[in-house]
Amino acid sequence: MSDTVALQAQNLYKVFGRRPKEVIKRLKAGESRDSLTSMGTAAVIDASFDVKQGEIFVVMGLSGSGKSTLIRMLNGLWEPSAGSVTIGDTPITGIPDKELRAVRTKHVSMVFQHFALLPHRTVLENAAYGLEIQGMSSDERRQKALEWIERVGLKGWEQKLPGQLSGGMQQRVGLARALAADTDILLMDEAFSALDPLIRREMQEQLVELQQELGKTIIFITHDLNEAMFLGDRIAVMRDGRIVQIGAPDDILTDPANDYVAQFVQDVDRARVLTASGVMEPARSVITATAGPRGALRTMRDLQTSAVFVVGNGRKLLGVVRDRDVMRAVKDNEKDIMSILRHDTPTVGPDQHLVDLFGISAESTLPVAVIDDENRLLGAIPRVTLLASLGNVPSTTTEIPVVEPPVTVPVEAMTETLRETGGDEAVADAVADGAAADEETAASEGSAN
Ligand SMILES: Nc1ncnc2c1ncn2[C@@H]1O[C@H](COP(=O)(O)OP(=O)(O)OP(=O)(O)O)[C@@H](O)[C@H]1O
Ligand SMILES: [Mg+2]
Repeated sequence: MSDTVALQAQNLYKVFGRRPKEVIKRLKAGESRDSLTSMGTAAVIDASFDVKQGEIFVVMGLSGSGKSTLIRMLNGLWEPSAGSVTIGDTPITGIPDKELRAVRTKHVSMVFQHFALLPHRTVLENAAYGLEIQGMSSDERRQKALEWIERVGLKGWEQKLPGQLSGGMQQRVGLARALAADTDILLMDEAFSALDPLIRREMQEQLVELQQELGKTIIFITHDLNEAMFLGDRIAVMRDGRIVQIGAPDDILTDPANDYVAQFVQDVDRARVLTASGVMEPARSVITATAGPRGALRTMRDLQTSAVFVVGNGRKLLGVVRDRDVMRAVKDNEKDIMSILRHDTPTVGPDQHLVDLFGISAESTLPVAVIDDENRLLGAIPRVTLLASLGNVPSTTTEIPVVEPPVTVPVEAMTETLRETGGDEAVADAVADGAAADEETAASEGSAN
């Protein structure tokens, strides 16, 4: 996503009814929307926001909250009662129809809830429709439309009529038509709402994929919070014509602006919204490779854990060592930890959704390691944290213990082995190393926040 603003809404109002100006004046003076219904319905009240180029901006709200009215003002289909819309550098509010149409043709396409396909035209002709309006030659638009039909998975269906297609397929035609028009902004009003859940999920995933590839700016309207959370880079929550909160999905979920939003987000599928970096804990059982097997054993004993992460320079994750291997190495007087290093650490990137973590977490007793692009250990997600975050239980370590994988070697045996093989003096370094690794995390996390 770039910082360039693709579309800007400034203090937009839309009032249906006899006296829009009077309604707006009174709303501005603080009167309530409900008290003004005899003069008009305030469908959108004082909406302001910027949508960045390449962003998926979701507008969410219950039926009647003003979403469709808002989106229709964004592409100039409806004139605002007050306020203005700017697309790229071009203010579109109040400009002559002809200019408005030109801006729309060039910059904005729309995908509707009920497909809005032309029933007597083939899939191919429907997909090419926007290009026809743009005045493209028939060969060229056929070529382009074919490309997009294939891209959305409808190859072979070009000559069918919309009525011969399932709902999901018809919506793909709508999407192909919008994409073929090659505008930089896509407006989608409840585009997936009529689809059954599995197809809908598929379409959501495909949309995200296409967006990442094509860098389109998408304004997506939905009343489905899960959809909003899955798709949105940012979400605007609407209630009774007003935008009550704009924020990233995580913000809206963890820091709702008011009770209304809080209630709205209560039922959201957190696993699809929260990310690894949002729930991870500082990794506690970490040693540097130089700590050696003795350092590892000492750390395991102190933290009563059966596994510790081993990091190298720059806190890069090298792997993990297990208590039995460490015991054996210490007894054998082995100095190099690399000989017992395992590489079966479950790892994820910071942006991975929790839903992707369950399988990984289930396959291993180890906490999942969160690593960045350069393999640096950012934090860890023990299973208990994963579960706590789904229930919206605060996962601070003071309230829920971070459960380390339990020891498989008795702690007494560890202490005994350490004593037998050379007292605790050699261990002091290792602990210092381990602590240093921890401090480093704390420092890097501090700076990241
Ligand atoms: N053409 C119109 N004339 C009069 N009132 C309208 C018109 N269009 C919408 N409204 C009113 O404006 C308010 C907002 O409607 P809008 O269609 O924008 O809501 P929405 O959030 O899109 O709802 P839904 O989820 O049902 O599509 C509603 O109270 C609606 O009755
Ligand atoms: Mg609507």
